[in-house]
Amino acid sequence: MKKIEAIIQPHKLEEAKEALKAIGIDGMTVVEVRGHGRQKGHKEIYRGQEYQVDLLPKIKLELVVPDARADEVIRTLVAAARSGKIGDGKIFTCPVSSALRIRTGESGEGVL
Ligand SMILES: Nc1ncnc2c1ncn2[C@@H]1O[C@H](COP(=O)(O)OP(=O)(O)OP(=O)(O)O)[C@@H](O)[C@H]1O
Ligand SMILES: [Mg+2]
Repeated sequence: MKKIEAIIQPHKLEEAKEALKAIGIDGMTVVEVRGHGRQKGHKEIYRGQEYQVDLLPKIKLELVVPDARADEVIRTLVAAARSGKIGDGKIFTCPVSSALRIRTGESGEGVL
């Protein structure tokens, strides 16, 4: 299993959700976060002036998916979230060693 953390522009959330639904991804966690990348926040708001480091609102989508689906999910997220402008976001992927459905006690990829 892989955990995919996608930090995207808030206005891309609906499109990303629809695209994930279309490929049959059911479970996800959505978190409102703030952050900045290499422009340190400011050039996404104002140009040509100096500003303090700023934290901009972003959405973090967290999805745990079977290994075999990770690439497809990432491609789908990129296609949905990309505008081509700075601040489009990033996707981080890491291994997950276990998953458990609390209601039934079952575990493994089947709970995803
Ligand atoms: N190295 C990082 N670690 C954790 N979160 C990050 C990292 N880089 C970016 N983020 C998160 O992703 C969000 C979007 O980053 P962003 O797309 O601006 O990256 P960037 O490297 O500046 O690329 P771009 O030049 O396209 O803007 C940030 O607001 C922050 O929440
Ligand atoms: Mg940036």
